Amino acid sequence: MAIQVKDRLFTIEMANTMYQMQVDSYGVLCHLWYGAKTGCSMEYLMDYPDVGFSGNIYDAGNVRNYSLDNRPLEYSTIGNGDYRIPALSVIHANGTKALDLRFEAYEILPGKYQIPGLPAAYGDETEAETLRITLKDKFSDIKVILNYGVFEKLDVITRSTVIINGEKDAVTIDRAHSLCLDISRGEWEWIHFHGRHNMERIVERNEIFHGIQESSSRRGSSSQQQNPTVLLCEKGATEERGLCYGAALLYSGGFQTQVEKEQMRQVRLLMGMNPELFSWQLNPGEAFYTPEVILSCSLEGFGTLSHQFHTILREHVCRGVHKLAERPVLINNWEATYFDFDGEKILKIARQAAELGVDMMVLDDGWFGKRNDDCSGLGDWFVNENKLKCSLHKLAEDINGLGMKFGLWFEPEMVSEDSDLYRNHPDWAIQIPGRDPIRSRFQLVLDMSRADVREYLYESIRNILNSANIEYVKWDMNRSVCDWFSAMLPAGRQGELPHRYVLGLYELLERLTTEFPQVLFEGCSGGGGRFDAGMLYYCPQSWCSDDTDAYQRTQIQYGTSFFYPVSAVGSHVSAVPNHQTGRRTSLEARGVTAMAGSFGYELDLSKLSREEKEAVGEQIRRFKQYGPLIHNGAYYRLSNPLKDNLAAWSFVEKDQSRVLAQGLTFRVEPNMRRYVLKLRGLEPAAQYQLVKGTELEAGQIYTGAALMAGGILLPGADGDDKAFEFYFERV
Ligand code: DGJ
Repeated sequence: MAIQVKDRLFTIEMANTMYQMQVDSYGVLCHLWYGAKTGCSMEYLMDYPDVGFSGNIYDAGNVRNYSLDNRPLEYSTIGNGDYRIPALSVIHANGTKALDLRFEAYEILPGKYQIPGLPAAYGDETEAETLRITLKDKFSDIKVILNYGVFEKLDVITRSTVIINGEKDAVTIDRAHSLCLDISRGEWEWIHFHGRHNMERIVERNEIFHGIQESSSRRGSSSQQQNPTVLLCEKGATEERGLCYGAALLYSGGFQTQVEKEQMRQVRLLMGMNPELFSWQLNPGEAFYTPEVILSCSLEGFGTLSHQFHTILREHVCRGVHKLAERPVLINNWEATYFDFDGEKILKIARQAAELGVDMMVLDDGWFGKRNDDCSGLGDWFVNENKLKCSLHKLAEDINGLGMKFGLWFEPEMVSEDSDLYRNHPDWAIQIPGRDPIRSRFQLVLDMSRADVREYLYESIRNILNSANIEYVKWDMNRSVCDWFSAMLPAGRQGELPHRYVLGLYELLERLTTEFPQVLFEGCSGGGGRFDAGMLYYCPQSWCSDDTDAYQRTQIQYGTSFFYPVSAVGSHVSAVPNHQTGRRTSLEARGVTAMAGSFGYELDLSKLSREEKEAVGEQIRRFKQYGPLIHNGAYYRLSNPLKDNLAAWSFVEKDQSRVLAQGLTFRVEPNMRRYVLKLRGLEPAAQYQLVKGTELEAGQIYTGAALMAGGILLPGADGDDKAFEFYFERV
């Protein structure tokens, strides 16, 4: 049993870490500890000086050092003398905002709790336990249930909150974060992942200064600009050293991560839905469920933390027959043709790809409605047989005849004004009456909160999926949302739309993925604009970025790897000069970079030279050989491509019996010495034989200690973006 309760002290002991909280003498649930296992109560470390201008709860009388303003709390609220950022804010029927939460009850349940309508990590009673703590407002019948899902072996705790209105009148929730983590000691830094279209999840590490720092999205989706993941680490922590915490939100809408360093140098971390896009009327007797946060702690730096997140996301968030299965090597026609294709052109690409060993042909945007550019057709999910010059059924059949699977692109949540759908149902698009709608990529967004919209999408997609042998769906979403208005909601409840949109999206995804369990769903949003743990619950992989330039991709994939498993990262080899950056990189550089993901191609292979085609065939054979190691092994970041002159990573078999290291060198200088690459995660005393390696003699034997402490010599300088790959087996 990972969860132990003694005299109102709650201790969660996992494989290597411990989380502890305590109900104090006033019934307030305080956070005591998150870190190494200590085997005792950590209450002795708490000291509470009398801090002027910090309010004292009434029942503390003249005890001036008792203030919620400087206690580490499990869940913070507003209007009770805690002036730090609140996790929860509720407007009562009389218009006031105040909550004073006190402990009421707890229960421990076998297995991991689930959340109605929202994605959540899952685990049975052999894998997880649930701790449910109920708090109640001292002055009203508002209750708050804090759920803790504990995956003992994985050093993972999930957090989510339920707010219950036991009052006679409705209340409004205007802020309901999923996670509140108070850290009372230490000097901390935080790492978040920012970016833009074509450049997602770039790592930024900052000192935590006094005041509030934030990473968030107001875009209606998790966004390219910030990612709903965050890392807090001790100053100076590295890949292999230092205490660090990671948090990932299972939510695909707007989010907010806030970090506050307060007057006593304590740090508070909040994470949840973005309150700027949220309010919710909670009627008497109703419950509101926040999304879930996955929390994990490592005592040994970022590498271990990433392994913990990779395991929980791959094995306990991703679902369905594909989650652990080898993924097909696919070819996508987008960068090969854009909108300019017919069935024959697609077949030509497929024929060449089949010859080289590609498993699946994916037909991207432009096969439906009137869609020859991005200004029309979205919403009209009817096959454009005039354009294809054949039926979808026939095209899929011909592709299957080549020994390949067939996959198809959709962008269900969108509508073009120039479409039959919009002409028939203009009110289905999100726009504010009396104002011009905001266009983005010349398209509008459908109101996913509406059951009739979802029903239309369900029927349309279902019909298409039943009309041909379609084994993969790319679910795209190519704009951010604003001008929020739904004809279905009364004026006072319009603030619910952003969250209702996400709930509607999840409902539709749940319905379709349940009805078509064999279909592999890949998420996408103008590349990696909705690459989040919530989407992984429905789609076990996601297109990582529209930027397919190998050099830039190493930086994008570096950031992505802190939380997301390699199998979730859609990554393709594309043509040169690269369509996004104009850069030319070698085919091998593009190959090794794309292999660090769910691998595929995005170009017309028939345009390659004979040598290049042979190289592609060889890459596919290599990916099929190494694929299980790449997706199931432990992933190590061996360099920081944002700072170092190389990008390097490796995959180590769980039993340490083999390792594949890959990467690129760049920013070459004259008269350079060769770089040395130090491996990680090997058995120091074991002997490893080089089976294959760039410019190194195969057969050579090294100890694990030598490979980790000394390293291997990388190829000499010979232009930028030179790829390398080394494969060792233990002898
Ligand atoms: C954006 C995606 O990221 C691309 O891969 C492609 O599918 C286009 N949309 C199609 O419009």
